[in-house]
Amino acid sequence: MAGFQITRQLMRMRRDWNRRARENARHYVVTGQHEWTDEEFFQSGQITLEEEILNDLPNVCQGRDPKDMRVLEIGCGAGRVTRAFAGFFGEVYAVDISREMVRQARKAIAGFANAHVIRNNGKDLSAVAPHWWGRWGIGERLEFDFAFSVIVFQHIPSREIIENYVREVHRVLRPGGLFKFQVQGSPVEGDDEHSWVGESFTERQAREMAERCGFELRYEYGAGDQYYWLWYFKR
Ligand SMILES: C[S@@+](CC[C@H](N)C(=O)[O-])C[C@H]1O[C@@H](n2cnc3c(N)ncnc32)[C@H](O)[C@@H]1O
Repeated sequence: MAGFQITRQLMRMRRDWNRRARENARHYVVTGQHEWTDEEFFQSGQITLEEEILNDLPNVCQGRDPKDMRVLEIGCGAGRVTRAFAGFFGEVYAVDISREMVRQARKAIAGFANAHVIRNNGKDLSAVAPHWWGRWGIGERLEFDFAFSVIVFQHIPSREIIENYVREVHRVLRPGGLFKFQVQGSPVEGDDEHSWVGESFTERQAREMAERCGFELRYEYGAGDQYYWLWYFKR
């Protein structure tokens, strides 16, 4: 896809998610409920932690103490999961395309000195780990032990952007580390106009993307479903 098309898609995503965040961020983050108290919203992040991390410790931690782990979250929204991660892992970095979501996520993690929320450009991780870091001995290269993303790629109507994120995670993840993420698995067409329905993946497409980006797709769950989970291990 031409560069200008990607730029246009990124502008739309940024605009749409800022509008949604201003209107009712928590509702758009988890659409099941219109009004959320802090307690309910953060509790839903704890449930994600339990379901996706605590139930999967051998893959996520691989014998490491979670408090010694540096983790990355893509598309943190209003900080629901980021906050839960901050209470469990040693260090958390989270990115989001929306300035307003980032503002709300920073509020959610107030008091957690080990968590950092950064606004990014919607397609790569240069805001967290610049490409020039570590080259020619300049700067310390941030390496991550685990990366995670939920309810984000299902909204991205561009395979190029999703795959670029996967390549970027490969760049910053330690060898053997896991990128656990969810994509749209039900066969829908990405809706470029509204940045709400993202591109969907079949098992074959998920496997081919892993191979192209230097990962092994070791497990997958929910093919054909909206919540299609992928376990990518860096080779
Ligand atoms: C439905 S919310 C989910 C938030 C969070 N993952 C959670 O589960 O609580 C989707 C988030 O993804 C962000 N997002 C959408 N497209 C993005 C992109 N291309 N890069 C980074 N963040 C993006 C939105 O700004 C929004 O905060």
